[in-house]
Amino acid sequence: MPERSPDGDHRFDLIPEVYRDAVESVLIPAADIERKLDEMAAQVDADYADRELLLVGVLKGAIFVMADLTRRLTVSSAMDFMAVSSYGSSTTSSGVVRILKDLDTEIEGRDVLIVEDIVDSGLTLDYLIKNLRSRRPASVEVLALLTKPSRREVELPIAYVGFEVPDVFVVGYGLDFDEDYRGLRDVVTLKHEVYGG
Ligand code: IMP
Repeated sequence: MPERSPDGDHRFDLIPEVYRDAVESVLIPAADIERKLDEMAAQVDADYADRELLLVGVLKGAIFVMADLTRRLTVSSAMDFMAVSSYGSSTTSSGVVRILKDLDTEIEGRDVLIVEDIVDSGLTLDYLIKNLRSRRPASVEVLALLTKPSRREVELPIAYVGFEVPDVFVVGYGLDFDEDYRGLRDVVTLKHEVYGG
């Protein structure tokens, strides 16, 4: 039997023992993420009916959204990935974006859907959208599992948003702190003493 959280409920049941002490709260349970992905995939299916989609995942945080979204889609979709510089062990954006891994494919004339784990300041995405638009795709839209609207520094068009989260540092479902916690099935917050935020 998995150990229960201090208040005796089952919210921590999906969190491996080794991580439980670090977790402050389960912000978005895995079941809610699954349901939301069903809804988002249905919307994407409807919007891209009879078109061929190129999903562009932003490594590494978007890997689970990419995998779980793609398996729900019924439209024709190809996948590609980009890696851009991100946080390291700090928890605030530097605003400096560097491409560490570019796309393998040409996107001219194609319908591109950027898949993101979280949009925080929006600086990373703003750069990515501009960069991809300069390659003359037929369209560029964005799907983000999470967004922190209160932290936004640039206005961004996000066609598909899973959940709005408050200004707190979250991990799990692909999101990391210092490369850890990505594999958690829920989106959780960490105790203050863990990340010093
Ligand atoms: P932005 O450029 O500030 O929008 O940051 C985007 C990237 O920062 C995301 O793709 C994540 O990799 C990372 N990030 C932003 N907020 C969080 C968070 O709460 N937890 C983990 N990573 C985050």
